[in-house]
Formats: sequence, C-alpha cells, structure tokens
Amino acid sequence: MVKIIVVGSASMDLVVTSAKRPGAGETVLGDSFSTVPGGKGANQAVAAARLGADVTMIGRVGDDPFGVEIVNNLKRNHVSVDYVEPVTHCGSGTAHIILAEGDNSIVVIKAANNEVTPHYIDRSLDAFNKADMVMIQQEMPEETVTHVSRICRKLGIPLLLNPAPARPLEKEVIENAAYLTPNEHEAKMIFADMTVSEALRKYPNKLFITEGSRGVRYFDGTQEVLVPSYKVEAVDTTGAGDTFNAAFAVALAEGKPVYESVRFANRAASLSVTKFGAQGGMPSRQEVEVQI
Ligand code: RIB
Repeated sequence: MVKIIVVGSASMDLVVTSAKRPGAGETVLGDSFSTVPGGKGANQAVAAARLGADVTMIGRVGDDPFGVEIVNNLKRNHVSVDYVEPVTHCGSGTAHIILAEGDNSIVVIKAANNEVTPHYIDRSLDAFNKADMVMIQQEMPEETVTHVSRICRKLGIPLLLNPAPARPLEKEVIENAAYLTPNEHEAKMIFADMTVSEALRKYPNKLFITEGSRGVRYFDGTQEVLVPSYKVEAVDTTGAGDTFNAAFAVALAEGKPVYESVRFANRAASLSVTKFGAQGGMPSRQEVEVQI
C-alpha cells in the first residue's frame, strides 16, 4: 500500500442546482440546495484512499459543525486525520457552487484553510516520514506551497502540485515539484511567456496539462502525447480534477509507467463525474480496474 500525504484544503461545498446561471445583477429561481464535503485537498485525499492508498491529510477546519462533518467524512473514507486540527478563531472553509447549464461556477472562502501555514507544516513534519508521494494544491497560503516544496526536495519525496486555483508560480516551486498538473487556464498563467508546446518540452514527463473532455497532454521526451479521456454521461464535473490528481499520484507512487498512470487517472476522473457532489462519484480501485 503506497503512503500518500495530502497537504491542502478541507471545506464544505454549498451547492445549488439551477437550469440557468444568473448573470451579473440577475436573480434566478434554482432547483435544489445541498451541503457536501469538498475542498481540493480533502477531495484528493478521499479519492486516493478509495483507490487503495494509505492517506494522511494535513489541513485545518473551523471549530464548527462543518468542521466536525468534514473530519468525520475523512475518517469514514479511511483518511488519517491526525494532522487535521480545528482552529478556534474562524470557521471552516466553504465553496459556494452553482451547477447550471452543464458546468459549475465556484467561489471559495478559504477561512480555516488559511491556517495551513508553514509553521503548522513544521508541527506536522512527522507525517512526511516514509511518504511515497506528497500532493498539494493552492486553496491555502502561497508560502505554504513553497515551504512544502522545499521539504519534499530536502527529504527526496516526489511532490505532485495541482496548481489550482490559478495563480503565478515561483520558479523554485516549479523546480521542486516532481509533477505539475495545471488545466489549460492555469498553464497559461504559469507559463505566460511560452507556448503550450514550449512549456511541455521544457518539462518532459513532469508537466501534465489537463484539457477536460479532450484528455491530458504531456511531452514524453520524444513527442507530445495526448491521452484521451473516457466518454461518459456527466452529472457533475466538480471534483473530476481532484480525482485525476489522486489517481495519477497513486499510480505513479505504485511505480506504474507514466502513460499507464495517466490512463488510470483519466478513467477514475471519468467515473467521478457520473454522480453528484465532488466526492459522490469518486470510484473504488475495483471500479476503475474493471473498466480500464
Ligand atoms: O476541485 C473541486 C473543489 O473545489 C470543490 O469541492 C470545492 O470545494 C472547490 O474548492
């Protein structure tokens, strides 16, 4: 069983479904409202655990009912929460999601996730012991991402950085990461002075650009490869990227070749969109392997 550490956000998703997405200044009548566990970090932790990894989450929640439910949900999914500590002076992170017209729009309030600080990481250093892979995203302070990237470089642990939501990345962080998985929009922001092909060639087998329903593109050292996605009937695409990242990390940590790891991750991500909620459709190992 591979050991994966996820440093990241753990939030509650407040989801409304509506036939129409409201424009600026417009009010529309929606269809439903639900609260479901989310946050990119927690989503990736849950997805990796369902795929059979031994997962420890490093994160923060608020001292509130959402915080309790977020932690219980991680436990139910066999994610270790020894390093998920409640903060007392602010609430849990929330994501405000509109599902409309076949896609989502999301506003994230980081709240307690802002307390995943470099100092907190230093207090959680034992968690990194014997890790096969560390995963991180960007719903928490920028300096934490830099700090974790330095720790991983020092300890020789591969770091998979999912640079979402988009923000420019320091060169040092790019160099410290073993794998980078931006979507097209994030890639444009990070590699603003290059074309996509130039960026891919600069980081062979390290930069993997996710292109939604088209698939995932990378440079294998010889040629550009597009690994096509699997076609499915999508119910809710929230969490598909998180499932991809988790499955990719698990496959790589297990020693699968790169192409095979992307295919495995594409399959897991495609299954994840067939049910409601970021974590609702995240598949088990068996579900992915039956279908690959
Ligand atoms: O990646 C999907 C996640 O992003 C949602 O669960 C929501 O919490 C947002 O942070």
